[in-house]
Amino acid sequence: MIPSLEWIDNKVKMIDQTLLPHKLEFIEFTDYKGVAKSIKVMNIRGAPAIGVAAAMGMALASIEFKGLSKDEFLNALNEAGEYIKSQRPTAVNLFWAVDRILKRIEGVDENPDILSSIIVEEAKNMWQEDIDTNKSIGKHGAEMLNDGDTVLTHCNAGSLATVRYGTALAPVRVAVEQGKKISVIADETRPRLQGARITAFELQYDKIPVKVISDGSAGLIMRLGKIQKVIVGADRITSDGVFNKIGTYMVALAARDNDIPFYVAAPVSTLSMSETFKDVEIEQRDSKEVSIVLGQVQIVPNGVECLNFAFDFTPFELVSGVITEDGVFPPKALVEKYKPDKRC
Ligand code: MRU
Repeated sequence: MIPSLEWIDNKVKMIDQTLLPHKLEFIEFTDYKGVAKSIKVMNIRGAPAIGVAAAMGMALASIEFKGLSKDEFLNALNEAGEYIKSQRPTAVNLFWAVDRILKRIEGVDENPDILSSIIVEEAKNMWQEDIDTNKSIGKHGAEMLNDGDTVLTHCNAGSLATVRYGTALAPVRVAVEQGKKISVIADETRPRLQGARITAFELQYDKIPVKVISDGSAGLIMRLGKIQKVIVGADRITSDGVFNKIGTYMVALAARDNDIPFYVAAPVSTLSMSETFKDVEIEQRDSKEVSIVLGQVQIVPNGVECLNFAFDFTPFELVSGVITEDGVFPPKALVEKYKPDKRC
């Protein structure tokens, strides 16, 4: 799969994911406000991908501000960071990435020109690290998969939710590279249909067998014995559970009821071990995403209210293991290993 975004000649080039699966088109940005908007409107989405986009947005901001005095440069950069962070509230990688860029130049005694080149290098490093991290997640996760397994996943935590390779889909990719016969069942993932549009697109692109089901089918498909493992991604993992795309919690409940292992795959940059459920803002998006399918067909009578929470919370009791770049951890061991917060 091609990278979801790249830094090319001081521009950020990304796949416009709002057009998938019908069109594979690229958009380019030379200003941080453009990148910030692309995060908000979900041209780019998925926690690790928006983290790297945010870092690249900071790199563009640093280029824009390098003619300023050092104090002005640092102030403007901090403001740009706050602006980028304000685009979406739940995926912690967005905050992690902006903070990592700011931290990289903290106390560095150089002029804005040099500071900007340090920031650009850091953003490029974060791009490469994302790919390497996902490959490690894939290697550890593939050990959980047996030849012939069918894996159920929710939303898109694949190559397109990261720079490349994916988090939840990385174990599938590695297992397939190892010669195991693995197929995927993707929940369609209402209301923005990331499973149907994006997971199905990228797996078909890479010739990995995939079928799409309506979200409500997951429990029955499990009961029929068609699923051996569930693997989902995460937008934020706190010390008590996992925030991921709306619908994940119900998949986890069905998996528990059917004795199917439920794994969460995510990089360490998605961990926020100093927080619990009550600390996290769950994004609520425009209710029209629910009432008007893909902005085209209204399916709810005029005047009826819709709720559109973008993420839910799955308590650790329902999670068999969390797959990070360091290994596979039962939740208790995960909390033990990464607490206090060691993300930076
Ligand atoms: O709203 P999105 O598309 O940005 O949400 C992405 C998800 O919730 C994915 O399921 C994913 O697991 C987190 S990103 C790897």
